[in-house]
Amino acid sequence: MKLTDAQLKQLETDGFIVIPDRFSEAEVTAIRSRLPKLFSQQDEANVIERNSGVVRTAMGLHLRDELFADLVRHPRLIEPAQQILREPMYVQQVKVNVKAAFSGEVWQWHTDFATHHGEDGVRKPLALNLHILLDEVTDFNGPLYFLPGSHRASEHAATLDNETTSYPLWVTDHDRVREMANRSGIVAAKGKPGTVLVFHDTLIHGSPNNMSPWDRSIFSLIVNPVSNAYTTATRPDYKHHRDLTPIEPVAADCLEDYVTRLEAPAA
Ligand code: SIN
Ligand code: MN
Repeated sequence: MKLTDAQLKQLETDGFIVIPDRFSEAEVTAIRSRLPKLFSQQDEANVIERNSGVVRTAMGLHLRDELFADLVRHPRLIEPAQQILREPMYVQQVKVNVKAAFSGEVWQWHTDFATHHGEDGVRKPLALNLHILLDEVTDFNGPLYFLPGSHRASEHAATLDNETTSYPLWVTDHDRVREMANRSGIVAAKGKPGTVLVFHDTLIHGSPNNMSPWDRSIFSLIVNPVSNAYTTATRPDYKHHRDLTPIEPVAADCLEDYVTRLEAPAA
């Protein structure tokens, strides 16, 4: 399922696109059904919120669950990425960011490239972040905030923040955030479950605490051209996977089997 010319143009102009109804309700239910077991595992790839102790982000999911092994090769994610990047890509990072009701904590203003470059030695800001909303995301449950057009600068001044949350992040300097927000405003990326977001590596984004009574979980796949791979491997594999095998899309109906299994009456 390819992007239209209008979607490609919008991605070029704003640095992100929001595509509603990309995955069906049944497919999202099947994806969500795998999460309780994954979140309950004692695994260092489950990063825990600093204050509440609930899961903040569950990482490396394609190596921990067969549904996610299929999802990272899903043509509804991979075909648009191939269309944009036009070269072989590897799976760089796979996670569900949870942002639980009442307790989900902030993701500070950042670009993904600042961490990919600062931690992993990635040379160019070519990686793409592909999200699937797994809950309805509204004004209230911690939507991602995007600064439109900020991706056009190849770099934004940033500092490593080990303090604010349990996830170390290269955080964009506030003067730079102010400058970009004053220029083009802030957009909250909202939508029904099954909505897909695509955004560039140098787009400034973040999200506020979730003080609402509604969870806000989002699946995120980061893909990067093999030619632009990490040059340092100091972070754990689940934060930047070392396997550079080019992604080959699987069948578009690859989630059907999981949907059927979920709907089958207990024997
Ligand atoms: C978030 O889950 O709100 C942040 C996601 C991201 O930085 O990609
Ligand atoms: Mn990010």
